[in-house]
Amino acid sequence: MTVYTASTTAPVNIAVSTLKYWGKRDKQLNLPTNSSISVTLAQDDLRTLTSVATSSEFPEDKLWLNGKEESLASERTQNCLKDLRNLRQELESKDDSLPKISNWKLHIVSENNFPTAAGLASSAAGFAALVVAIAKLYKLPQPTSEISKIARKGSGSACRSVFGGYVAWEMGEKEDGSDSKAVEVAPLSHWSNLKAAILVVSADKKDTPSTSGMQTTVQTSDLFQWRIKEVVPKRFEEMKKSILDKDFTKFADLTMKDSNSFHATCLDSYPPIFYLNDTSKKIIKLVHSINEFYGKTVAAYTFDAGPNAVIYYEDQNESKIFSFLYKLFSKVEGWESKYSQETLGAFEQQFDSIKEKIQFQLDDELYKGVNRIILTKVGDGPQDTKESLVNAEGYPKA
Ligand code: PMV
Repeated sequence: MTVYTASTTAPVNIAVSTLKYWGKRDKQLNLPTNSSISVTLAQDDLRTLTSVATSSEFPEDKLWLNGKEESLASERTQNCLKDLRNLRQELESKDDSLPKISNWKLHIVSENNFPTAAGLASSAAGFAALVVAIAKLYKLPQPTSEISKIARKGSGSACRSVFGGYVAWEMGEKEDGSDSKAVEVAPLSHWSNLKAAILVVSADKKDTPSTSGMQTTVQTSDLFQWRIKEVVPKRFEEMKKSILDKDFTKFADLTMKDSNSFHATCLDSYPPIFYLNDTSKKIIKLVHSINEFYGKTVAAYTFDAGPNAVIYYEDQNESKIFSFLYKLFSKVEGWESKYSQETLGAFEQQFDSIKEKIQFQLDDELYKGVNRIILTKVGDGPQDTKESLVNAEGYPKA
């Protein structure tokens, strides 16, 4: 029996949006009401590995996620599979020498390299990895932006996860979504010293799912109309420029303002939607206090549809920021795997050297609202890998 396989890794939770996607103009096709921008984070710490196999002998499409069989029945997943098979079929119809695999069933096996309990499992990475792995199996010649449109149908934000570095999702205007796609703003190499500290904030209840949250906002918030018409179009151009100029101050200010603008439209929805909790709000204040202390913007926060904070900074300012963050969050897990005791000690010393000058209150209890810290940086998009999760028969290895 012939089994064809392919594997890819994709960054998890990676496209942390700096200009938010919030609002759909078409729910079926995941077409957004505004363009958005994100930074892809490195895969050393957070990644999904997806392997796919296809064979004429497989009786049905199957999916295994982190060792458990899951359903592929959702309309979104089916739309992705249909588009990928259609593109493969086009190739096969033009070239008789190609094996006719477009009608064969698929086995998809996917695993994250971090605990799902961290609250970071994201549909964005999952769909990006699934679509990229199958595109590779099918040897599709389409450029990455075309592949992004298929990932978009799985989960809107997934379309940005097919690129590394700095990525824009252009909303497009066509009804069929053929111009709603991700494009690279700048590669990782253009601005590679951008780093991110993710504070995983404990949530006591399940957040409103993004799709239903977006629907409520689109239908009920007046502020949202102002945001998509007046605020985002201008910010989109400004943020792209700040990335091309590597202007951290500008980039940081836009990132923080847009996070706040998005959460304001959530509060303006009716009934209101709350993603930020008290810990999130204290982290927002802390970042502003740190920037004020240094007299310039050295750190920026952003929050997606949940309480976790992503704090961006440039490598050369790391000890400035970590003198505060290590002081406050040294008890949470995540430092030792990245820094030696010596470096951590230096952050402590740096804090001691400035503590007399600090004018604002540091909350010694803030760490209690945080589960762990993930120290990462801007990274690459999906990568080819020799690792595979499927055996020669096309079934999960483990
Ligand atoms: O993951 P999705 O496609 O359901 O959308 C989530 C949207 C936000 O993460 C809140 C913002 C964004 O731009 O990713």
